[in-house]
Amino acid sequence: MRNLVIAVDGPAGAGKSTIAKIIANRLNINYIDTGAMYRAITYKCLKNNIDINNEEEVVKLAKDTDIDFRDNNIYIDGNILKEEIRTMEVSNNVSNVAKIKEVRYLMVDVQREIGKRNSVILDGRDIGSYVFPNADYKFYLVATPEERGQRRFKELKEKGYETTLEEIIKDIIKRDEIDSNREFAPLVKADDAIEIDTTGKTIDDVVESVISKINL
Ligand code: C5P
Repeated sequence: MRNLVIAVDGPAGAGKSTIAKIIANRLNINYIDTGAMYRAITYKCLKNNIDINNEEEVVKLAKDTDIDFRDNNIYIDGNILKEEIRTMEVSNNVSNVAKIKEVRYLMVDVQREIGKRNSVILDGRDIGSYVFPNADYKFYLVATPEERGQRRFKELKEKGYETTLEEIIKDIIKRDEIDSNREFAPLVKADDAIEIDTTGKTIDDVVESVISKINL
């Protein structure tokens, strides 16, 4: 049987990863958090004191990095990455790494390779519009910046991070702007994607909306 590919795109904090993880479990397919890949490169740059604005250095580091997913976890150079890629420092820098075309080429190669081998649901910004234009299903999740900020704030607070709602909303708006306006493979709704506004909806509501569109 051909591999199933489901794309879930949308701006920061729209609920993509929460929904994609649940759908992956329900359908017993792999989940790929493509944002984690850009975060992982950003984290490694920061750790190695690489200037994020020095494209050449960032691309060199990305080329020298081995990225893999196992059991829905991301590994770089053989080491699992968890919460260290979710810090505000990584969030504040990731969109400037993700706008580098050569970095995207490298990440997209990994994503396409995984999609060739497995049935997969991927969440990101350009999955339906660029990475898998022929995906079987494409969803585009949106919500108001206030609600997206509230969700991220709650999530980070539960994990013990010191941050404010204002800081998070500011980060979300700034990232959306850089992600939407970059030249190569920006954040955009694919023409054939199904848009779901998750504002005011529960996780279960959104999962049901998505599942109801999928015919297996
Ligand atoms: O999904 P998450 O918020 O963790 O993504 C972090 C960042 O990675 C985004 O703000 C965006 O800059 C970048 N990204 C991207 N393309 C993807 C996934 C994420 O440019 N497919």
